[in-house]
Amino acid sequence: MTAPANDTVFTWAAPPLKFGLGALDEIGGELAASRARRVLVLTDPGVRNTGIPARVQDRIRAAGIECEVFDDVAVEPTDVSIDLAVKWAREKDWDAFVAVGGGSTIDTAKAVNLLTTHDGELLDYVTPPIGAGRVPDGPVKPLIAVPTTAGTGSESTTICVVDLLSMHLKAGVSHPRLRPTLALVDPLTTVSMPSQVTAASGMDVLSHALESYTAVRFDTKPAPADPMRRPAFCGSNPISDVWCEMALKLVGSHLRAAVHNGRDLDARYQMALASTYAGTGFGNAGTHLPHANAYPIAGMAQGYRAHGYPEMPMVPHGQAVAATAPAVFAWTYPADPERHLRAAELLSGATFTRTDGAEALPHVLRELMADIDMPSGLSAFGYGEHHIESLVDGTLKQTRQLAVVPRQLDRAAAADIFRTSL
Ligand SMILES: NC(=O)c1ccc[n+]([C@@H]2O[C@H](COP(=O)([O-])OP(=O)(O)OC[C@H]3O[C@@H](n4cnc5c(N)ncnc54)[C@H](O)[C@@H]3O)[C@@H](O)[C@H]2O)c1
Ligand SMILES: [Fe+2]
Repeated sequence: MTAPANDTVFTWAAPPLKFGLGALDEIGGELAASRARRVLVLTDPGVRNTGIPARVQDRIRAAGIECEVFDDVAVEPTDVSIDLAVKWAREKDWDAFVAVGGGSTIDTAKAVNLLTTHDGELLDYVTPPIGAGRVPDGPVKPLIAVPTTAGTGSESTTICVVDLLSMHLKAGVSHPRLRPTLALVDPLTTVSMPSQVTAASGMDVLSHALESYTAVRFDTKPAPADPMRRPAFCGSNPISDVWCEMALKLVGSHLRAAVHNGRDLDARYQMALASTYAGTGFGNAGTHLPHANAYPIAGMAQGYRAHGYPEMPMVPHGQAVAATAPAVFAWTYPADPERHLRAAELLSGATFTRTDGAEALPHVLRELMADIDMPSGLSAFGYGEHHIESLVDGTLKQTRQLAVVPRQLDRAAAADIFRTSL
């Protein structure tokens, strides 16, 4: 029997983008151009309090379009919170949706768009083996995403992340139809972000770029049986590499300043660009193990409360991702030492050689995390040795991310990474 041939093709897609200071004010014109007559703006209570969603509503109404605001999106959305938003949205027929907020709001808007245009519930569409992996077969409504964090890149991606409460597990739905029709990125909307949200969402940007940059190469994976159904994450490739390298450089140069002085407009601008670059890269190449680990870390959390976030137990996504990143990148180093050293250089501006070895990149990450007051280690979230097997179980269910991990991962390796990260 001959071995299956490797893939020779990679994919890249992104929504149209409007980026810049004041871009937000163009939202009325954008919706008028799409002939929308009745629009629903979604946001969460923290973002509502900044006044940005009210400004968006004013601009939309000024364009002669009916507009209501749903301001009860849950931070780190769950199947239950999404269900509530969908029930609310089903009361009327909307021509378009606008998400004003971080990844929590944009993901909720994607789910609302999907479930007001298709039947079934979110779990039907979640990636197997957690959900049924159903494919949305009809059109959805236009969705404009206005990110107010420099973080998830959800405004560019096909992904919606949900915390499945009964399973104590986060999981994702991914389909091209979920991608927003326009990403409207205005760095001014990020100025009010609390410093710990800036730090965590900035580490999310960093990890998106690093994970896609070090993901398994697209042409070392077997060719898909059906080329029209290539997986959402195709692996690292020359186009996503360009976006990721730029994002790493910008995060290394500007994240500290954005965290320490939220009014530093240049730092905010550059971090918004970094987030856009990384979102454009990882949405196609894919994220791997730090994200796969983040899902059980966030899903199983019990008593931890994060500064700058709503008063409820949760591990914010960026903190969950960053927690195992140093250990993961020490482990992935042998898959491509040059790339890991290059990433450390882009982030730090220093020069590294093979003699610096597997610890060079983890060292740069730990220094940055200490400088921006990120929690160090899983024990900060209440995890100990006795949680490791359950955390590993959760990671091994994240098939979308595991498909692009650059080394063969077994239970023992996954457990070691969690143990080193305690
Ligand atoms: N779809 C994707 O591609 C993708 C990728 C990564 C993460 N995610 C998901 O996104 C979510 C995290 O999103 P996030 O990190 O952007 O944060 P978030 O949306 O959860 O918001 C975090 C907190 O910051 C507040 N906030 C946001 N912007 C603000 C601003 N400008 N001023 C003041 N307060 C502000 C919010 O009110 C909230 O309390 C998680 O659920 C994660 O799983 C999605
Ligand atoms: Fe992320």
